[in-house]
Amino acid sequence: MRLTGLRRLSGEVTVNGAKNAALPCLAAALLSDEPSRITRVPNIEDVRRLIDILAFVGVEVEFASGDVVINPVGACDGALPDSLASALRASFLIMGPALARTGTASCGAPGGDVIGARPLDVHLAGFRALGAKIETVGGRTIAEAPHGLRGATMVLDYPSVLGTENLLLAAVLAKGRSRIVNAAMEPEISCLADMLNGMGARISGAGQHTITIDGVERLSGADHELIPDRIETGTLLISAVATRGDIRLLGVQPEHNEALLGKLAEIGADVGRGQDQIEVRVDADAALQATNLQALPFPGFATDLQAPITALLTQVQGTSIVHERVFENRMQHLDELRKFGANIIAGGVAPVIIGPTPFTAALVRGSDIRATAALIVAALAAKGESRIYGVEHLARGYADLPGQLRALGADIEQLPMLDTLNH
Ligand code: UD1
Repeated sequence: MRLTGLRRLSGEVTVNGAKNAALPCLAAALLSDEPSRITRVPNIEDVRRLIDILAFVGVEVEFASGDVVINPVGACDGALPDSLASALRASFLIMGPALARTGTASCGAPGGDVIGARPLDVHLAGFRALGAKIETVGGRTIAEAPHGLRGATMVLDYPSVLGTENLLLAAVLAKGRSRIVNAAMEPEISCLADMLNGMGARISGAGQHTITIDGVERLSGADHELIPDRIETGTLLISAVATRGDIRLLGVQPEHNEALLGKLAEIGADVGRGQDQIEVRVDADAALQATNLQALPFPGFATDLQAPITALLTQVQGTSIVHERVFENRMQHLDELRKFGANIIAGGVAPVIIGPTPFTAALVRGSDIRATAALIVAALAAKGESRIYGVEHLARGYADLPGQLRALGADIEQLPMLDTLNH
């Protein structure tokens, strides 16, 4: 990708549906033998990969203009080969529905961004509590519950997002009452629970620490709209501040981004919230100030915005400390940010950023979805024409970030495939 920086972003764009809500909601459609329709689905690579997986396990899927229609055509075959499992992290979300529907499920090691060890113990302990027998053979997880799942209290060692979702997906058809204690509270969990309740599930407390699920015998098809993508929202807002811009985002839920909005205001941006809009504006002569932050589970500052805001903090006055407390290996963007001129003292999971340093264009490579987004933020603030490689990561998680930025006035362009492959 080619990006010429120092253009002030202005104007308005509409945010897409949430990647991290689309994935569990697509998996949830496996719980019914009736057709389901999910709307506002972002056209991203991870969604397309999960759709391939759903097709493999026994449903017909149509995806057009943001709508996915899922039509169960056979028994759900919950045995996922390694090649499909490794395509994305959320492939493991097949386990919960397959166990619930058929009493058997198996999945190769899931893929996804390499940002830490990402174990599966929370998922497996929960499946065991629901009565499944679990074996792990050569990285492959095999689960059996020949007599069906029964409700249980599951106290999570960590409020894992996909872990909470997988256990919710398994427990909705279990016999009796389940409780997920120390559940993840991300808005995507509530989005999934809303979809399941619309299908006839009995879930309460989603979005809180403890979720209660009263098992039901069957679920009907769904007609469900996804929530807006709060990480895309955050990336655009950070991009605007990095260019001292003035933008308005439409179709958002400001309450999903409170931690970020608080930090942007602290830095010195003017932040405005409407019912489904967010505005952010920085005057050309405003003095932006350093801040410290910790990436935490929701409602804390989102780890998925840690890399992008680190890029922004290189451009503000003073010393900032960014402490990553969710993933132990999510600092691969720092060396790339230094290529633009960033002054960052690495401190393991808590680097110290000393700003502002004027950025000059660089040739850089993204290592994962959000690290690549951070390099775009950096290039927007850099003098000259940058080249950003590794944008295939970006396509996994953002429907059209370059297009949205272009609509806001950025000079950004996808390079021909050959140029991308040569680097
Ligand atoms: C989800 C999001 C990802 C986001 C992350 C944290 C999706 C598809 N992805 O990933 O974008 O960055 O939440 O908000 O929704 N852990 C365990 N044991 C487990 C599972 C996780 O120790 O069984 C640890 C992980 O190693 C990590 C932390 O928990 O340190 C958070 O991981 P988790 O919440 O599971 O992230 P994901 O659900 O994989």
